[in-house]
Amino acid sequence: MFNVMSSTKQKIENLVKKLNDYSYKYYVLSKPEISDAKYDKLYRELESLEENNPSFILPDSPTQRVGSAPLESFQSVKHVVPMLSLSNAMNGEELRDFDKRVKNFLAKEEKDLEEIEYSLEHKFDGVAVSLLYKGGELIQGATRGDGAKGENVTDNVKTINSIPLKLRMEVPENSIIEIRGEVLFLRDDFEKFNAKQVTPFANPRNAASGSLRQLDMRVTATRPLSFFGYGFGQIENFELPNNHHDSIKLISELGFKISKRSSKIKGLDKLVKEFEIAEQERDGLPYEVDGVVVQVNSVELREILGFRERSPRFAIAGKFQAQEETTKLLDITIQVGRTGALTPVAELEPVQVGGVTVSRATLHNEEEIERKGVKIGDIVIVKRQGDVIPAVTGVIESLRKGDEKDFIFPKNCPICEAKVSKKEDEAVWRCPNDLCLAQVEQKVIHFASKGAADIDGLGQKMVALLFKHKLITDIASIYDLKFEDLVKLPRMAELSANNLLKALDESKKISLAKFIFGLGIRHVGERTAKILAKHIGVIDNFFNLNEEELIELKDIGEETAKGLYEYIQNTENKENLLNLISKGFRFEKEEENISSIFSGKKFVLTGTLQNMTRNEAKKIIEENGGKVLGSVSKNTDYLLSGSDPGSKFKKAKDLKIEIIDEKDFSEML
Ligand code: IVH
Repeated sequence: MFNVMSSTKQKIENLVKKLNDYSYKYYVLSKPEISDAKYDKLYRELESLEENNPSFILPDSPTQRVGSAPLESFQSVKHVVPMLSLSNAMNGEELRDFDKRVKNFLAKEEKDLEEIEYSLEHKFDGVAVSLLYKGGELIQGATRGDGAKGENVTDNVKTINSIPLKLRMEVPENSIIEIRGEVLFLRDDFEKFNAKQVTPFANPRNAASGSLRQLDMRVTATRPLSFFGYGFGQIENFELPNNHHDSIKLISELGFKISKRSSKIKGLDKLVKEFEIAEQERDGLPYEVDGVVVQVNSVELREILGFRERSPRFAIAGKFQAQEETTKLLDITIQVGRTGALTPVAELEPVQVGGVTVSRATLHNEEEIERKGVKIGDIVIVKRQGDVIPAVTGVIESLRKGDEKDFIFPKNCPICEAKVSKKEDEAVWRCPNDLCLAQVEQKVIHFASKGAADIDGLGQKMVALLFKHKLITDIASIYDLKFEDLVKLPRMAELSANNLLKALDESKKISLAKFIFGLGIRHVGERTAKILAKHIGVIDNFFNLNEEELIELKDIGEETAKGLYEYIQNTENKENLLNLISKGFRFEKEEENISSIFSGKKFVLTGTLQNMTRNEAKKIIEENGGKVLGSVSKNTDYLLSGSDPGSKFKKAKDLKIEIIDEKDFSEML
C-alpha cells in the first residue's frame, strides 16, 4: 500500500515538474518544446491523479492556477517595502542633469567619482505588481495601489503563465523573496485578444489593468497576460548581488521574463546614446514601453544615495516621446483614395503626439468606427507609432456630455456623388467612378511618387494646389503645365516653377516598369509592374494583352490578371493612357531583375527580428515573389520567427510548418 501511494506521489511530483518545465520554456523563454496536444495530455493525467489523491496536490501544480470562486472585493495588502515611483527625464539633457545630481550628492558624502556605472532597462507600459515568495512558493500577488497599500490579486496573478508558482532556484525554506515587475499584454497577444472584444480596449495597458483587476479570476485566466520582473522588494534570508545588473540576471534565473534590453553602461555619454538607441528600437519590441529606467548600478552607491519622499535618488525614468494622447474629435470626414476606397478620417483638435502635431487621424473603415463606438464630439485616444499614420484607437466614454453625435457613413462618394459599393468579404466602401476627381488626384500623387515617375516638387500639397487652381485634370495634364501658370500660384517663386518644369521633363526618361507602376492600377505593385514590363517589352503591347495571357504570366494572381484586363478593356482608360504616352516619354531599358526565389510561397512572421523590421521583411518577401499572411494555417510554407515569438510559433510547430530564423532567411536569399 505504502509503495503504491509513494509511487503515485512520485508520479504527481514528476508530472508537475515536467509540466512546469514545459510551461517555463513556452511562456518565459518563448522556446516551446512540445505541442499543445501533448501538454494537454500530461495535464489531464495529472488532473486525474490529483482528483483521486487530493492530499498529494502540490502548491505549484499547474492545476492550481485556476479555480477559485469570484471575490466580493479585493483585500488590502500592506507593502512591507513601499513601492515607490520614479522621477522623469524627458530627454538626453535631463539625463545629464540626473547624472550631475547623482555625482554632486555622492561628492558631499565624500564619494568623488568621475564616471558612474548605470544600468538601463525598458520601462514597461503595464501594471506594477508585487509577487511574494515564501520558501520559494508564491504566496501573494498585489497591485501597487498608492505605494504603501495595494490590492490582493493573488488568485489573478496565479493565472499568468509566465509567473512561476515556485521559483526555479533552490532557496532557503525560511526565505522571503519579493519580486516586482509589470503585468502586460504582449503586442501580438493584445491584437488577437482585442480583435475579439465587442468593446475593444484602447491600448494594451488599459487591457492589462482591466484584466488583472477582475474579481472573478476565471475571467483573468482567459486573458493572455505576461509578467516581466524588474526588481526586488522585501527580502529575508536570501542574499542579493551587490549590483542591480546582476539582480536582473538573478530574477531571470529565478524563472521570470526580464527586459529585452538590460545594459550596464559606464559614463554619461554612452548612457545618452543607449537611451536614444532604445527609443529607436521601440516599435520593434514585443511589448509596449514608455521609456527606459536608468539606475545607479552599485548597491553600495545606491545605499548612500537613498530616497527622497516618493522616489529613489539613484534611479530615473528616461521617458520617450508619448505616442498616445487624448483630444477632441471635431468631425469625421471621408477621404477617397487612388483606388476609390473611402477612408473615414478623424478631424481632431490639434494635439502633440510624439513631438508631432496631429490634427487628422485615420478611423480605418465603417466597421472600426462601430466597433470602437466613436461619436463626433467624443474625447478620443490618438496613437502614432513610428512612421505609421496616426490612428484613433479608442474613446473615453466617461467624458461624454450627451451631445455627441453618431456618424452616418455616406452612401455616395462625397466628391463625385457616385453610389458607393462594398464587396461582401471586404470592410471597405469604394467609389466605383474611375474619373472621380478625388481618385484622379490621388493617382497623380502616386504617379509622381518615388517608386514611379519620381517628380521632385510634385507632392501631395502641390498636386492639391494644382487641382484647386484647375491647372491639371489628370496625370497627362501635368506635362502641359506652363511657367506662366505656375508662377501665379501662391508662394511659388520663379525658381521653384522652373525646378518643377525641369523635374517634369526629366521624369519622361523612365523605365517601362516604373511607368506601369505609376498608373496606379489596383493590385499592380512594383513587382507586378516589372513582370508586365518584361513581358510586353514596349508600351504599345500593353493594349494587346489578353486575359488568358495575363493569367498565365508567372507570379500574377488571377485577381490581378482580371483587374488588369478590365483596366485595359476600359476605353476611357485607354484614351487617357494614349494621351499620357503622347507626352513624349523616353522609355529606358532597365535591368529588370525579378527574383522569383519565393515564388508562390506563403510566409507568416512572428516575434522580433534583429536586423530588419517586419515591414522590411515583408517587402523583401514580396519583392522575391512570396506572400506574407497574417496567420498560420496548413497552407503556410514558412514561419519566419524572431525572438519572443507569439502563439503563431506553437501553431506552426503543431502543423509541422517549416520554422526559419533570420539567418535561414538570409541564406535562402
Ligand atoms: S524600477 C523605485 N524598472 O515604472 C521604483 N520600474 O515610476 C523603481 N516600471 O510603476 C522601479 N518598468 O512599475 C522599474 N524596468 C522597470 C520598470 C519600472 C516599468 C514602472 C514601475 C512603476 C513606475 C515607476
